[in-house]
Amino acid sequence: MLFHFSIRVRLTLWYGSALLLILIAVALALYTVLARDLRSQVDQSLEEAAVAAVRAVEQQGAGPFISFEALAVEFPELAVLDKFFQIFSPAGKITIQSPHLKQHDIPLSPTALEAALLGRSTFESAKFRGEPPLRLLSVPIRRGALLVNVVQVGTSLHPVEHTLHRLLGVFLIATPVALLVALAGGWFLAGRALKPVEAITLAAQRIAAGDLTQRLTAPPSSDEIGRLAATFNTMIARLDASFRQVHRFTGDASHELRTPLTVMKGETELALRRPRPAEDYKSVLESNLEEIERMSRIVDELLFLARTDLGEVRMESKPVRLDALVQDIQRQAAVLGQDQQVQVVSGTSEPVTVQGDELRLRELILNLVDNAIKYSHRGGTVSLALTRGRDAARLSIADSGIGIPPEDQARIFDRFYRTDAARAHDKKGTGLGLSICKWIAEAHQGRIEVQSTIGQGSQFTVVLPLAPSR
Ligand SMILES: Nc1ncnc2c1ncn2[C@@H]1O[C@H](COP(=O)(O)OP(=O)(O)OP(=O)(O)O)[C@@H](O)[C@H]1O
Ligand SMILES: [Mg+2]
Repeated sequence: MLFHFSIRVRLTLWYGSALLLILIAVALALYTVLARDLRSQVDQSLEEAAVAAVRAVEQQGAGPFISFEALAVEFPELAVLDKFFQIFSPAGKITIQSPHLKQHDIPLSPTALEAALLGRSTFESAKFRGEPPLRLLSVPIRRGALLVNVVQVGTSLHPVEHTLHRLLGVFLIATPVALLVALAGGWFLAGRALKPVEAITLAAQRIAAGDLTQRLTAPPSSDEIGRLAATFNTMIARLDASFRQVHRFTGDASHELRTPLTVMKGETELALRRPRPAEDYKSVLESNLEEIERMSRIVDELLFLARTDLGEVRMESKPVRLDALVQDIQRQAAVLGQDQQVQVVSGTSEPVTVQGDELRLRELILNLVDNAIKYSHRGGTVSLALTRGRDAARLSIADSGIGIPPEDQARIFDRFYRTDAARAHDKKGTGLGLSICKWIAEAHQGRIEVQSTIGQGSQFTVVLPLAPSR
């Protein structure tokens, strides 16, 4: 039921109930302690008075003939007005009574008489109609084993009752007032504390409506709300970034596929415009085939990347001799480089074993070597070097080619990203190779580092963890 209310109402109600409980508990405790203390004070003063009275009676040699006045002359403390005295005969008959009690007698209760016969004092509370309750102390006076008199000291409990009533009255008024004040305060505080939440909700609604550029403006505090807002903002920023990336990616992919399609369409239309010798058709078909190959390569790479995104690409995990693999690739690349008059040489090569998928690692290294050749000038050199560190293998592929501007170095691993110099140098690239390389390296718990000086060359270093030695 309570869950249908707003947090503000719930907080206030919880707060109020807790406070009410505390107030009641404190009032109860205070009342009980005070009542007990006041009553024991009364009992104590009765005891003191009884001691005086007993002493007086004993000294006067009580009997039916002495009077209260005679006693009071000797013992002025007996005439204190807030207490009264009665002296009973062993039969329970009143023999002496303080004057201000003359209005009515208070009989000695059977219990008190019984106890007196046994030599014990008795405390009693008594209540007469229309009067405040009384507290009585009956003390026996004995001679030997014989009961001579019973001295009774009494006092009204009116002051005690009055004080306790007053206290109760204060509680009855103060508790609701305190509760109301606390509820109002709680309501106000809860409202204040929840205000940023309201602001966040509104902002989140605007963002949910589609505006991912919106950010929450929360106070830059490190409290719960501040952290919530910060977390929220980070999340939106990431969403924003990934939406943008998806958009750019789709745009880039369509663009990359449209270019070869446009070329093919243009060439085919031109060829069909009038009859031509078979040679011409052949050359158009050859050119189309080239474009088709390019497109199917893009589609393959895109499919691969899409599958990596979905976590669907399976990787083998076997020991791979990286040095042998690098040598093999170097031989293969040396042939590729001949076309461009680029030499591919291999420098240091230490025996290194890594754990992973040989085919994917080959693809990774080939892609990097292919780039190094592609972005070299004629007569350039590409050199491979493999070293074994303490816990990682480092394979570097260095070229003396066009280089990469510093501001582009972080972005070349993005899908479809190509530097302007690269576009001018080689028209055929798609910009997907390095994204694939990066994914393969990371799938092997490794990474790729780039160092490059524009116009002087680049060095890509693949760092791969060593295979666990058995
Ligand atoms: N060795 C290099 N020297 C200079 N620039 C490089 C080098 N390697 C990569 N680049 C830059 O990084 C970009 C991305 O490289 P990537 O391999 O992903 O794409 P690509 O080589 O252009 O196309 P492809 O998908 O055919 O490999 C290149 O376009 C180029 O700008
Ligand atoms: Mg490439």
